[in-house]
Amino acid sequence: MPQRFEGRSVIVTGAGSGIGKAITERLLTEGAAVLAVDKVPDGLRTLPTSDRLVTHNQDVTEEDAPRMIVDLCLRHFGKIHVLVNNAGVGAAPRLHDTSDADFDRYIDINLRSMFRLSREALPHLKRTRGNVLNIASVMGTHGMATQAPYAAAKGGVVAFTRQFAAEYGPEGVRANAIAPGMILTPGTAGRFATGAYQARLIGVTPLQRYGSAEELASAAVFFCSDDASYVTGQILAVDGGASSSIFISDPIADLWAEKYDAEHSSA
Ligand SMILES: NC(=O)c1ccc[n+]([C@@H]2O[C@H](COP(=O)([O-])OP(=O)(O)OC[C@H]3O[C@@H](n4cnc5c(N)ncnc54)[C@H](O)[C@@H]3O)[C@@H](O)[C@H]2O)c1
Repeated sequence: MPQRFEGRSVIVTGAGSGIGKAITERLLTEGAAVLAVDKVPDGLRTLPTSDRLVTHNQDVTEEDAPRMIVDLCLRHFGKIHVLVNNAGVGAAPRLHDTSDADFDRYIDINLRSMFRLSREALPHLKRTRGNVLNIASVMGTHGMATQAPYAAAKGGVVAFTRQFAAEYGPEGVRANAIAPGMILTPGTAGRFATGAYQARLIGVTPLQRYGSAEELASAAVFFCSDDASYVTGQILAVDGGASSSIFISDPIADLWAEKYDAEHSSA
């Protein structure tokens, strides 16, 4: 594995499970020093042992979290080259079931915390001409008839990523986002295990399966690395093609094909 991150220090939030864990493991494999942050200590304990890994048990929505996380990274590694804003929570209610408290909670975890941590890390990223990677969602780029406060928050993540890239690009700081589709993680395993989910969601995904956290991490480390040195302000869907295709489910495609056959059969 090429050591693309040798001498680089990276902060990853939500690093104890799923996508954040896979990104952390991949960064360590590729030579990075990583500050892995999660509000649940158990997952952090499952990360590989490394003298380049520091774990930090913290809820990123806490008021002093940005300062504490940035200070800790500087104390251990001296610099910050990359910030991966991954911590997030889905499974949100529908608009008509969303209380003000629900709305605030989803915005707080998925948007406000990454906004505040990005602001705190910014002066240090300017020094290293570093970059930020935000984990958004296809629900931030496309409509889906559910999860209103989560979609609103992830839409904010997408807009903030582009805004950040435009404002700080001239100072050499990049920002990109990944919009995951269906990635099998501890956070999604319960819902994805149901037969109805599998039949309907996999049915509208060209690659006909869920993605893995490791596949997501492959795209993530590209953005974080110098291989993406001329890439900023981009939102990449890692979703098996789901958001770039419509009506691929068999019944609809079959109807179109039947109609085509009927129209052309006499020719
Ligand atoms: N898995 C998917 O299909 C999918 C799809 C779209 C977007 N995403 C996004 O990807 C990111 C990771 O999701 P995942 O599926 O790996 O979830 P996950 O639940 O497996 O892991 C999320 C991790 O974030 C941590 N976390 C949550 N809130 C936190 C907080 N306030 N402070 C610190 N840590 C916190 C959790 O403890 C957990 O370890 C999230 O932002 C999620 O919205 C996931």
